[in-house]
Amino acid sequence: MLRVGMLTSGGDCQGLNAAMRGVAKTLYEQVDEVEIYGFIDGYRGLIEFDYRYMSPAQFSGILTLGGTILGTSRQPFKNMLDPIEGSSMTKLEAMITSYRRLNLDCLVTLGGNGTHKTAKLLADHDLNVIGLPKTIDNDLWGTDKSFGFQSAVDIATSVIDGIHTTATSHGRIFIIELMGHNVGWLTLHAGVAGGADVILIPEIPYRVESVARAISARSSQKKRFSIIAMAEGAIEASEADLSREELKLARSTMEYPSVAYRLAAQLDAEMGQEIRVTVPGHFQRGGTPCPYDRVLATRCGCYGAELILKGEFGYMVGVHDNVMVKVPLEEVAGRLKSVPLDNDLVTFARRSGIFFGDE
Ligand code: F6P
Repeated sequence: MLRVGMLTSGGDCQGLNAAMRGVAKTLYEQVDEVEIYGFIDGYRGLIEFDYRYMSPAQFSGILTLGGTILGTSRQPFKNMLDPIEGSSMTKLEAMITSYRRLNLDCLVTLGGNGTHKTAKLLADHDLNVIGLPKTIDNDLWGTDKSFGFQSAVDIATSVIDGIHTTATSHGRIFIIELMGHNVGWLTLHAGVAGGADVILIPEIPYRVESVARAISARSSQKKRFSIIAMAEGAIEASEADLSREELKLARSTMEYPSVAYRLAAQLDAEMGQEIRVTVPGHFQRGGTPCPYDRVLATRCGCYGAELILKGEFGYMVGVHDNVMVKVPLEEVAGRLKSVPLDNDLVTFARRSGIFFGDE
């Protein structure tokens, strides 16, 4: 009997169910006796021994379903050694205890950066762990793509497309603020796909004057509108030397709801022109996975199941040059995959006339 635990942790995204289905279907096909246990709301369920037995039927009909059938929550890695209220155990000890109580052979963790840090901690304590890479931010080290990313790019692009038509009609300047946490992959890809005129990402600090110059240049070419795709984590050149903590503090005391609103006010002051802001927010993480993500999530799930069958644990599944690979958790944990400055899409975008606010 093979006994497998599964959980989805951190922010949800498209493709989580497809990936779990890929694991489950492969195991049911390849092994005579398999039992799968799903922990509810990610590591919370593992900590609190809140789980349910998953029947094969529960993995049917979920390929196209967004979100996660197991629920998810954010359980910060930095608190994993804290004691649980009213108990003598730490969260880590409680997770190990849950794994042992269910007599699991392995645990499949679907998540992003925080999830994989905790996955490594569990692996360091002799639990058999396999990680699957999910995040719309695409910032996971060790994989070219994570599932959820392409679906979010598709949604963000359709937002830019929609804004394009109204911006054209009115001859307006729009800032579309996109998710991505501290990296710019989502904004870069959606910005290029949506034909944005300016793309602002955290990896390339911008100057307001430079953005204003780009817009003025377009106006002088008789272009009636401008579209700025801005990452939620974009930073001004004057903020570039701040530590992560200092930046966090600066953002929490900022008088605007987000960076896009601040830039809109600054551009208004600089150019005397009214700027509109659109923030699609969590909509980017919602709804059905796009076909690309259904395929990627299925590949990740099936490859993860193969690692389980071979008894190879302590890895995150990744994709390199379109080939599935296993990446040691210690290589992944705690590392961020930012957009490199020499990324070819950045280069092509610049060469084709898109501004990044640092010109
Ligand atoms: O990591 C995924 C993500 O959607 C980021 O792009 C965003 O910054 C964050 O999660 C939002 O977190 P929450 O869902 O907790 O508001």
